[in-house]
Amino acid sequence: MNRTLAFGWALAAAAVGLVGINGLAAEQALQAGGPRRAFENGKLWPDNNGVHINAHGGGLLFRGGVYYWYGEHKIGGKAGNTAHVGVHVYSSRDLYNWKDEGIALRVSDDPASDITKECVLERPKVIYNAKTGKYVMWFHLELKGQGYKAARSGVAVADAPTGPFTFLKSFRPDNAMARDQTLFVDDDGKAYHLYASEDNKTLHIAQLSDDYLAPSGRFIRVFEGRLMEAPAICKRNGTYYFIASGCTGWAPNAARSAVAPSIWGPWRELDNPCRGVNPENRLGPEKTFGGQSTYILPVQGKRDAFIALFDLWRPDDAIDGRYIWLPLRFEGEGFTITWADTWDMSVFEPVSR
Ligand code: DGJ
Repeated sequence: MNRTLAFGWALAAAAVGLVGINGLAAEQALQAGGPRRAFENGKLWPDNNGVHINAHGGGLLFRGGVYYWYGEHKIGGKAGNTAHVGVHVYSSRDLYNWKDEGIALRVSDDPASDITKECVLERPKVIYNAKTGKYVMWFHLELKGQGYKAARSGVAVADAPTGPFTFLKSFRPDNAMARDQTLFVDDDGKAYHLYASEDNKTLHIAQLSDDYLAPSGRFIRVFEGRLMEAPAICKRNGTYYFIASGCTGWAPNAARSAVAPSIWGPWRELDNPCRGVNPENRLGPEKTFGGQSTYILPVQGKRDAFIALFDLWRPDDAIDGRYIWLPLRFEGEGFTITWADTWDMSVFEPVSR
């Protein structure tokens, strides 16, 4: 028996002893045994230290052969809790096994800072600017003690993908309210900020300045009055694909999808792309398997390969919120996302040489 396997079996045996005493610890111990070779949706996802990954509302960046996963570091209590730590970052070469790289952006101890502890810091996304050589993070920021009233965007910058990121400023982009958000860099290096605006009623798609640190001033209003949150976007063969949720707080709802020939539209809303049922909670497309979208990841080295990332929020135990990662399947005008308990990268074709 090789060492990894032996280690895995030892953990499994220990875990069996723990069942009934502490089910969570047992599940965690079982999953810590050996390298992972598949995605297991809705399960605990231990990092290199055997600790469940804490990166919610997240997004990924691929740089130098490495994927970086940035997300909200949650602590116990409600999923809607305020930020006590900041943005956590993990690294991986295979997307299954993740190394804890620490806190990329820390909330501040200074009560005068916009990102002082107990602000609301959600849905961080990081992009790399080839012109400046900087890593740029945008996130949704709510000022401490103001609930969700401020509706601002925050910007931070770093010299390395794992940080430390320095907080630069927060503001209302284009003088508009901004809550749930994502970033997208197009093939020509232009970057876009997509955010739920106008009291979450209408989405804005805004081009960023060349250094990605500010809005350029050019933006459009889309899906007017459709109340979309959790936006995510990708581009395939010149077409832009979009997914989002409805607006029901932390409770799951039906996913939305849309397609456009240009980032500037016209955007056409399609059907709910989800198919199948999550057997654990018996939730299907009408509740997005219990999840809410956060990002669409282009997979490197595979043809037409994109993974949709969802958060499975656990409002009573935020730190233990789970993840759902599922492949996109392009069909007709749009795409579908079908539930799988477990799957691996062999569903994608390699890029032909
Ligand atoms: C749903 C959003 O998608 C989350 O990011 C968060 O803002 C909650 N609403 C707050 O209720």
